[in-house]
Amino acid sequence: MSTAMQRTLGTCYYPEHWPEEMWKEDANRMAKAGLTWVRIGEFAWSKLEPKPGEHDFGWLDRAVDVLQKANLQVVLGTPTATPPRWMLDKHPDMLAVDASGNPRKFGSRRHYCFSHPGYREESKRITKLLAERYGKRVAAWQTDNEYGCHDTVISYSEPARFAFQQWLKEQYGTVKALNKAWGNVFWSMEYDDFSQIELPNLTVTEPNPAHSHAFRRFSSDQVVTFNRIQADEIRLHSSAPISHNYMGRITDFDHFDVGNDLDFATWDSYPLGFLEDRVGASPEQQRAYAKQGDPDFQAFHHDLYRTVGQGRWWVMEQQPGPVNWAPYNPAPLPGMVRLWSWEAFAHGAETVSYFRWRQASFAQEQMHSGLLRPDNQDAPAMAEVIKVAQELKDAPAVEPPFAQVALVFDYKADWAWSVQPHGFDLCYFDLVFAYYKALRRNGLTVDIIAPNHKDFSQYKLTLVPGLIHFPSSLKKELEQLNSLIIYGPRTGARDKDFNITPPLPPSLPNIDVKVSYVESLRPDSPLELSNGGSVIAYTESLEGTAPIFLETKSKKTIAVKENNIIYCGSWLDDDGLDKFMSIACAEAKIPTQHMPEGVRVIQTRTEEFWFNYSPREVQTKYGSISPAGVLRYAV
Ligand code: GAL
Repeated sequence: MSTAMQRTLGTCYYPEHWPEEMWKEDANRMAKAGLTWVRIGEFAWSKLEPKPGEHDFGWLDRAVDVLQKANLQVVLGTPTATPPRWMLDKHPDMLAVDASGNPRKFGSRRHYCFSHPGYREESKRITKLLAERYGKRVAAWQTDNEYGCHDTVISYSEPARFAFQQWLKEQYGTVKALNKAWGNVFWSMEYDDFSQIELPNLTVTEPNPAHSHAFRRFSSDQVVTFNRIQADEIRLHSSAPISHNYMGRITDFDHFDVGNDLDFATWDSYPLGFLEDRVGASPEQQRAYAKQGDPDFQAFHHDLYRTVGQGRWWVMEQQPGPVNWAPYNPAPLPGMVRLWSWEAFAHGAETVSYFRWRQASFAQEQMHSGLLRPDNQDAPAMAEVIKVAQELKDAPAVEPPFAQVALVFDYKADWAWSVQPHGFDLCYFDLVFAYYKALRRNGLTVDIIAPNHKDFSQYKLTLVPGLIHFPSSLKKELEQLNSLIIYGPRTGARDKDFNITPPLPPSLPNIDVKVSYVESLRPDSPLELSNGGSVIAYTESLEGTAPIFLETKSKKTIAVKENNIIYCGSWLDDDGLDKFMSIACAEAKIPTQHMPEGVRVIQTRTEEFWFNYSPREVQTKYGSISPAGVLRYAV
């Protein structure tokens, strides 16, 4: 990443929703507010190609002209999240199919199956037309829109079944090898031919976890291929950088794998909607943070997408006010739009772009706020956006955070935990996020790292919780480290085909520990730890000679430490994790600080930022921060 790159702002705009006479004034107002980027086009297929093969690019040519004349740089989205109605007449079997076998119909968006060869061709075709026409004019690209949003990665369609069989053939070579790898001798599930293998839905009781996990890996690969076809096509005609806008807490496909075909990552940040529908916060926390959002959820994704984008990332859609889609849709506390924007920059974002410019007065998102009201007056967020734009004028250039702690996140592990949770609500994302939150409550800056990361030498502490299949490349990488490593429950518990393969896990060099027995716990049966906090949800029995690091009041070993390795075989509650992280950081010689409720700090090499997500004024070493306040200091 170029350190000279300035932090910038943008917005998402739909010229096709508004009379052409309005475009010029819109563009001038955007520029006047201090925005420099505008994303357009990502849902406009029916306007670009009203009938198969009949194109109308004139309006988009003019829209790009008007925006560029106002000195705005254009991000053009490929419109493949919204195939027009005629597409279904051409490809009646292109719809994704849900687990009950029902097609997911036309009438909203994302109504396609990633495996449909005809739709892949259509997606390539429209991408080519756009790339040829706008390749030299636009400043950046977005492929599709939010892969996986609305539960759209997994499809049980016929084209998916056929593609899955081909994928299995490539993976296993012979059906005999597949039978062996999956353990199909169990319940007489052996196949004679790849063509007999169904998708793992509608079985009488649970399908073989090896079958389900293979299907999850296959489904992710289909997204990667779909995206790659577009990225390759764009690159033939354009040197503008390519991105995709990922959505918060969508884990059904491997974002790192998709990221390998992009030039930068973007994600869509809706803090209040997320707190209501996906953070997993308690009702008390939802109430306390209803107008601010969870203090760690956005930060987690910022840190994740910094890695997905190999250092380059944006917020493509930033919530500007109430959204329309969560169970409850409160308005942000005054100041939060500014806080969310600055928080993204603190985590290394190049650009924060607000969704959307003007609130729509029709269709599904009428109740979603924008920077302008439907009557064209400024909405409350506008003043905060203008303020951020002014503050950016004399702010330093884009700078990544400076982290001494690495936290490994693996999408394949998330699928494995969901295929075989062994206890209600045992979820890998929640486990990794629980560690992340505890690190941040201890005042730490964290990098989220992909499992194929090379060279952890910059970190004093590396955490690897829940990596159920432990790839040998990562194992080798971590074996070379002298710094502290914490492995969490289920590390190395399965091979890539979902088998328990002796020696029993975690099977790590330099620490004598073996998981002899595992159990999940009822929510009403926590185990109290001897130095505060409890084990909840899941616990392993540990054997071996490694010295005890954490234990329960009744002397059950919870974590052991030998050499530079800690193995923790249980899920700890927040108190337990806070203490665990603070003792571990002391061993790793990383200074910690106990953060006041709702306040978080993050450091780059030149700046330190403090954010107050709490609804109360808070004292810090730099003075007090008001609710929704931001402190920024040069270090
Ligand atoms: C995003 C999506 C946008 C818009 C927005 C509303 O998930 O990318 O197109 O629907 O949500 O909050």
